[in-house]
Amino acid sequence: MQQRISFPSGTVSYEFGEHLNSISRLLQSTQVVVVTDQNIGGLYPELAKRFKSIVFPAGEAQKQPEILSAITEQLLALEAGRKHMLVGVGGGVITDITGFAASVYMRGLSFGFVPTSLLAMVDAAVGGKNGINYGVHKNMLGTIRQPEFILFDMAFLKTLPDEEWSNGFAEIIKYACLFDKELFDELSGHDLSWYQHNPSETERVIRKCIDWKNRTVLEDEQEKGLRKLLNFGHTAGHALENTCHISHGQAVAIGMMIACRISETINGLSPSVTETLGKMLRQYRLPTWQAFNAGEILEVLKMDKKRTGETIDYILLNDIGKAEIRALGFDIIYNALKSFADARDR
Ligand SMILES: NC(=O)c1ccc[n+]([C@@H]2O[C@H](COP(=O)([O-])OP(=O)(O)OC[C@H]3O[C@@H](n4cnc5c(N)ncnc54)[C@H](O)[C@@H]3O)[C@@H](O)[C@H]2O)c1
Ligand SMILES: [Zn+2]
Repeated sequence: MQQRISFPSGTVSYEFGEHLNSISRLLQSTQVVVVTDQNIGGLYPELAKRFKSIVFPAGEAQKQPEILSAITEQLLALEAGRKHMLVGVGGGVITDITGFAASVYMRGLSFGFVPTSLLAMVDAAVGGKNGINYGVHKNMLGTIRQPEFILFDMAFLKTLPDEEWSNGFAEIIKYACLFDKELFDELSGHDLSWYQHNPSETERVIRKCIDWKNRTVLEDEQEKGLRKLLNFGHTAGHALENTCHISHGQAVAIGMMIACRISETINGLSPSVTETLGKMLRQYRLPTWQAFNAGEILEVLKMDKKRTGETIDYILLNDIGKAEIRALGFDIIYNALKSFADARDR
């Protein structure tokens, strides 16, 4: 099934229920270079047989400025020009890198995505944000530019390791907290292995999340206001991710717990909501706490893209499905981080 959605920066063709093989129909006469990681390259060797490919080691550590030189070298070696299209086949690391490289190589090539992780399907491949990190600073260099197409082939989930399923559920739980009480209750009634054994239910949830993301991005592609909500759990989360060397999903899970604790103090969020969220995160084998140094995390946070002067736009909850953006001072954030880090048993 195909759905075309027009954003200010471009129209994206969403190809649902497709098989990787149908990629040829989308590409037709285009000259293609596939960008992927070694895990995907090893599991799906047909990719390299059919397309010119650039293959990197897997992992967040690749999302650094050096990757741009490496891709440029390889594109030059392949004599890739303006008419080439880059197709990122992989998790969020690959889609973020591919979109960014495609946006700047020769001032911009077209690109498409085949997200293979749950996290990339529900979030990273959708919405047009691309980028790389700079040291511990997440997504410091990037662009907002939409892919030509996103091909969703659910069969990829069959080879996805359990911990990557958990990471994807961190973003799914994020959408539920922000927008969808019904989804929150549904998730609360199941667990990770239930969705792993019920692929049609998983696909329904994936589509729901894509829909929430698209609705938000359609209103505010450039993140002037509403789109900031999607950063729920990501402010502290992003700072924890590369400082504590934990996965994106794990960092977002802990970040959501921190945001809820702050919401209890600032917005009067009922502590029972935080407790339910914590229980749910554990059902999806996600962490709810992590040891960290509050001062160190605050230093990283000071370079957050949502900082204005001495405050950061923080995403807080009033209730499940009721989120708001609040400018919080560094002192409030530091105290919240410190008491969270000190309160291991909560
Ligand atoms: N651009 C955005 O809007 C956006 C949104 C959310 C997250 N992100 C970014 O996405 C990244 C996290 O994405 P991720 O969790 O997909 O990480 P990832 O790309 O590192 O993938 C996770 C792991 O799963 C493996 N994998 C992926 N698909 C597989 C499959 N089908 N079978 C077997 N193994 C598979 C990968 O090789 C990797 O080892 C972070 O860098 C984050 O910042 C971006
Ligand atoms: Zn995220």
